[in-house]
Amino acid sequence: MNFPLIAPSILASDFGNLQRDVEMLNSSKADWLHIDIMDGTFVPNISFGFPVTAAINKHTKKPLDFHLMIEQPSRYFKQCVETGAEVISVHHEACPNLHRVLQEIRELGCKAGVALNPHTPVNVLKDIMELTDIILLMSVNPGFGGQKFIERTFQKVRDAKEMVLNAGTHTMIEIDGGVNMNNARALCQAGADILVAGNFVFSASDPLETIARLKTVNSE
Ligand code: DX5
Ligand code: ZN
Repeated sequence: MNFPLIAPSILASDFGNLQRDVEMLNSSKADWLHIDIMDGTFVPNISFGFPVTAAINKHTKKPLDFHLMIEQPSRYFKQCVETGAEVISVHHEACPNLHRVLQEIRELGCKAGVALNPHTPVNVLKDIMELTDIILLMSVNPGFGGQKFIERTFQKVRDAKEMVLNAGTHTMIEIDGGVNMNNARALCQAGADILVAGNFVFSASDPLETIARLKTVNSE
């Protein structure tokens, strides 16, 4: 794999032209499509559900990276997989039985991710690293696209990287929220493997070129 992986967030696409935007991403250097599912309870917003992810799956040629900002996420794993999920991330804050939940995701054949809100320290995952394929660090408060990047995230990336190295696992570190060209390279230098980008990609005059720039941030 050629790092960083770039995962544009569909939340920032034009829902009235979803097929057009998914096809644009097919022709881009994006590695994954990031799918933000919000339930209006775990986060104060509702995004979209499985009829919409089925439509995305119908047109995409890229793996789908589901980020479940919902309570009791395992209720919906099957529908995630049926509509194309290859990665499923749940929130640590929403899962009192995280060990079981991560096993369930892997049993469905997906990579298992754990998302951490800005207030949650990375060391809560220390004893579950063997089951964690991805640590998804929220660099904004979950619930909305287009928010300002929280600078403290850089230290959390370093902490997460150190924990992964100590555990000796292949866990990847994904950053979600406010990613742009001002922070992308420093995030990768700190240890990030996957960058999610919503508004930075979709509000750009040339989204394809913006994705390509993010993709080559390590070689600039
Ligand atoms: C926030 C979502 C993010 C969001 C990122 O709750 O999890 O994935 O779509 O969007 P930007 O890049 O605009 O902050
Ligand atoms: Zn997300």
